[in-house]
Amino acid sequence: MELILRDCRLPSGEAVDIGLDQGIICALAPQLVASAHQELNLGGKLVSAPFVESHIHLDSALTAGQPRWNQSGTLFEGIEIWRDRKQSLTLDDVKERAIATLKLQAQQGVLFVRSHADVSEPNLVALQALLEVRDAVRDWITVQVVAFPQDGLYGSPGNLELMEKALNLGADAVGGIPHYEMTREDGVQSVHHIFELAQRYDRLIDIHCDEIDDDQSRFLEVVAANAVRSGLGARVTASHTTAFASYNNAYAFKLMGLLGRSNINFIANPLINITLQGRTDTYPKRRGVTRVKELWQQGLNVSLGHDCVQDPWYSLGDGSMLGVAAMAIHVCQMTGQDEIAACYDMITANGAKTLALGDAYGLEVGKPANLIVLDATSPYDALRRTATVTHVFSRGKLLVETRPAAVRWA
Ligand code: FE2
Repeated sequence: MELILRDCRLPSGEAVDIGLDQGIICALAPQLVASAHQELNLGGKLVSAPFVESHIHLDSALTAGQPRWNQSGTLFEGIEIWRDRKQSLTLDDVKERAIATLKLQAQQGVLFVRSHADVSEPNLVALQALLEVRDAVRDWITVQVVAFPQDGLYGSPGNLELMEKALNLGADAVGGIPHYEMTREDGVQSVHHIFELAQRYDRLIDIHCDEIDDDQSRFLEVVAANAVRSGLGARVTASHTTAFASYNNAYAFKLMGLLGRSNINFIANPLINITLQGRTDTYPKRRGVTRVKELWQQGLNVSLGHDCVQDPWYSLGDGSMLGVAAMAIHVCQMTGQDEIAACYDMITANGAKTLALGDAYGLEVGKPANLIVLDATSPYDALRRTATVTHVFSRGKLLVETRPAAVRWA
């Protein structure tokens, strides 16, 4: 075989050697008796399946401050700034920023990404650019593109047509933003329409759902009911669902039963939710992150995303999924050992489930040789210290290597 990684520590704690050949994980066993062209002794470091970024906007990434900074820190000022910035989008502008962001992520262990692409502009530049990027990078990172109607499916007369055009061009998933439509009825109708499109075009669904503190924003139940009735279930994702944190418990408990039946996926974006939500509160100030712990306790699939990396909604962000998970641990109060382990799952296996990656993902014999090495001994250790991802192997080849910072006392 081409390469053997010796003395690897899996997230489960098991110590193994891992053999890679022709882009496939061909062996995984304690003290593997075999030889290879190259061997690398990892000295008990954590080896994991790659991180999965399940929610990002690559089209707006790295535009913070253009043409102005978001001073209020609200979602709605962000949408206004983006409306101005996107007038000057070009294919090259989007592609350069998207690839720079993907590299930033990949060097920190992300090899699977779901990006939304704004399809509210007549020329569909953002979508076309991200589809080109998806194809250009497929040898080292997997990108899915969601057709996302940022200004609402019914925000302008041509938006429905643009959505269909985006699906015809090859978007992987249908997106939506029901809480931002002009009326509640439009929001409900948009969800029905999204399901109809997903079935007609055979695509996944990922809806920005109830990203607001309004306890009356209740499109999640519409999404879940459609998932039950259509049978699309696990092909459906509700992103954000921040209003779920503001629902009264009587309603939330009833809703949880429906969600259990629906089998849909959830994505929380803790960095963004904690900063954008709660902006109209004085004190007590809501955290604005969906009920991550309770959804996980119900056995529902929850993954985590960045949402933004230096864009009109969030001028910070560095592409580290460990940073995203660390924020979830704090904001969602998931500090128990099994809860911390669950947060690691939310940036790895759960994200893979959300993206419907199937056999394309996982640290198992026979699967594509995508794996990362961390300067840590366990997921807990990695999250506690935001450990450096020292090696990223993609499709069986070393893609990028990073040396951990060295400290020397004088
Ligand atoms: Fe988003």
